[in-house]
Amino acid sequence: MTNQKNNITIFAPATVANVNCGFDTLGFALEGIGDTMVFTKVPTPGVRITQVTGADIPLETSQNVAGVAAQAMLDGVQADFGVEIAIHKRIRPGSGIGSSSASAAGAVFGVNQLLDKPLSLSELTQYAMKGEAIASGQEHADNVAPCLYGGITLVTGYDPLHIVALPVPELYVGILHPHIKIATKDAREILPKHIPLKDAIAQTQYLSGFVAALYTQDTQLLENSIKDVLITPYRKALIPYYDELENLAKDQECFAFGISGSGPSLFSLSRKKEHIDNYLTQSKQLFAQQGLEVDAYASKINTSGCTLC
Ligand code: HSE
Repeated sequence: MTNQKNNITIFAPATVANVNCGFDTLGFALEGIGDTMVFTKVPTPGVRITQVTGADIPLETSQNVAGVAAQAMLDGVQADFGVEIAIHKRIRPGSGIGSSSASAAGAVFGVNQLLDKPLSLSELTQYAMKGEAIASGQEHADNVAPCLYGGITLVTGYDPLHIVALPVPELYVGILHPHIKIATKDAREILPKHIPLKDAIAQTQYLSGFVAALYTQDTQLLENSIKDVLITPYRKALIPYYDELENLAKDQECFAFGISGSGPSLFSLSRKKEHIDNYLTQSKQLFAQQGLEVDAYASKINTSGCTLC
């Protein structure tokens, strides 16, 4: 069957990676926050980025996350056509909610719509990781996987790549984005190269508890498991008022709080939207009192991943 769609628009959601207990392993997608991208199939081979709005990112294909991911995929499937991409960014680069991953995942999802024989989500993830790598310096899937699959994803291995789509509970998510810049590369460089055995054991317990809690719908276990002894103790110093914000989240009965990806955005979780709304209101007040700018969003976990508009 020949694919007749030559012009399509897609939505690529923002994502929260790590989720405290699964560094470089866990991620979930957000509802309502994301980029749109327009794809046009053209006879001339190759990828051209025709427009970028909402962010100052390169138009050159080889320097653009979406361009690199789309080109890798066109090469991989030996496509006999090319693609023009217009990118409309609503996720700020460097915000910690998967801006580059949305570009990379959105690019391969869009190209896939133009193929006669579409690839699987796992294959798309492999190509998206090529784009993600030019932004973060390393191929990893903890943002691109949830962006493509939706819901909560677990990367159980890279060689070969294996992604598990986990059960998704009904939860509300608060995202607070302080307007400071943290480069993922810098946030990785401050991490220790070795960890004590007791911390490795604790973290294994948290991640396995998290996964078990989702399958057994064990609310208490879930709440006890979204913790991190490996990464957050080092990274929280990069984020102004981290401890104060964590206390506000606790006071408002959010059961989880932490750094989204490599920051600076912070995520919080609750079963009630009013807890998230109250926490975000108080957090915005705290930043306003200090004269610092911040964006705040209340969301749910997006179970659709990238979608056609
Ligand atoms: N897992 C990555 C990190 C996500 O925390 O460094 C950022 O891309």
